[in-house]
Amino acid sequence: MKSPLKLGVAGLGTVGAGVLTLLRGNAELIAARAGRPIEVVAVSARDRKRDRGLALSGLAWHDDAVALAADPQVDIVVELMGGSEGPARALVEAALAAGKPVVTANKALLATHGGALAKLAEQKGVALCYEAAVAGGIPAIKALREGLAGNRISRVAGILNGTCNYILTEMRLKGLPFAEVLAEAQRLGYAEADPAFDIDGVDAAHKLAILAALAFGQEVDLGALHIEGIRNVSALDIALAGELGYHIKLLGIASREEGGVATRVHPCMVPVGNPIANVDGVFNAVLVEGDAVGRVVLQGRGAGAGPTASAVVADLVDIARGCHSPVWGVGTAALDQTPGLPMERHRGAYYLRLMVLDQPGVIADVTGVLRDMRISLESMLQRGRAPGEAVPVVLVTHECEEAQMRSALSRIAALPSVVERPAMIRIELL
Ligand code: HSE
Repeated sequence: MKSPLKLGVAGLGTVGAGVLTLLRGNAELIAARAGRPIEVVAVSARDRKRDRGLALSGLAWHDDAVALAADPQVDIVVELMGGSEGPARALVEAALAAGKPVVTANKALLATHGGALAKLAEQKGVALCYEAAVAGGIPAIKALREGLAGNRISRVAGILNGTCNYILTEMRLKGLPFAEVLAEAQRLGYAEADPAFDIDGVDAAHKLAILAALAFGQEVDLGALHIEGIRNVSALDIALAGELGYHIKLLGIASREEGGVATRVHPCMVPVGNPIANVDGVFNAVLVEGDAVGRVVLQGRGAGAGPTASAVVADLVDIARGCHSPVWGVGTAALDQTPGLPMERHRGAYYLRLMVLDQPGVIADVTGVLRDMRISLESMLQRGRAPGEAVPVVLVTHECEEAQMRSALSRIAALPSVVERPAMIRIELL
């Protein structure tokens, strides 16, 4: 067997510790699959003294993570610090510039600087691998880049944030409000103390930007995404969606449409019969549609030590074997630069929930706006009876354009009998 492949690992949090544990626990099997042993020789983390439940003796320790790139005993840099700027970016750039392959779990970095990093990796002829950056343990990158390489992809969609999926699932199953479930998710350690990246859809957007670039051979373009999170999803809407036969999920969807690729992250109503509708709790799912293969759905754990380490080690085994794919599936010169489609061009059906005063003529006013905007209704439902007070009214539309819907919504919100900002959730038949 060949000499060991030596790693420098930056970041010894949950994921970093998980990678060291997996490499040690499955060392023989991994060596057999890689054709050579894979060993950690150097590490970098903020706090030397913290007990991580791991033996770190014998490993070189660098206080400055970027020093791993210059450490002569390090063959591959494994970046598990996170963040689109700062030491993570500096380390990845330094490692690639030094001609060292990089394995990273850093979706923010790739979604923000993936274009420039791919060019650098290509110039230097080294691998930049990121299986762990999207959907944790689900081999979504490998599936798209290698497994489905013969397909023209029409759509990639997924549940890409476990924290949001956990919150929406608990709200549905227990009828609890968003804030209460978020607090519980934080207590359980699912959501960050500052959970904005998760619940505002940013984390899912980073992952979708990566999937879209790979699926459609495009320059990664986070700025092209439409992003909405789950803060405004109410327990009432989840219950009403259930009555109509839908579950509400935060989805990331990238699809090829006439005129370009549309990329969006927002809460969606998914029919309960769809496999994605029943991927619950912290689980992630990725759905791909290809012209030859049809539909492929993968699901699994999107975060955590074991699943993320599983993805990191898969990249390491690839590099050890000499498998080296272009970062975005095609060479950077071949990447399509066509701008993404604006959200205003999206077409679909919509769920609207209004709180309206229970008095004569209100529905006529609302449907009058929809008539004027040429939006056709599929169904309508009113709950409760409270003369002169607010009651919920639900409207489900046929397919229309987002721009039409936005104009209609602002006119409906301005009606004197509509007492709250209307709730709008897009329906995705997938
Ligand atoms: N915070 C992410 C999630 C996990 O909740 O899915 C890491 O990407």
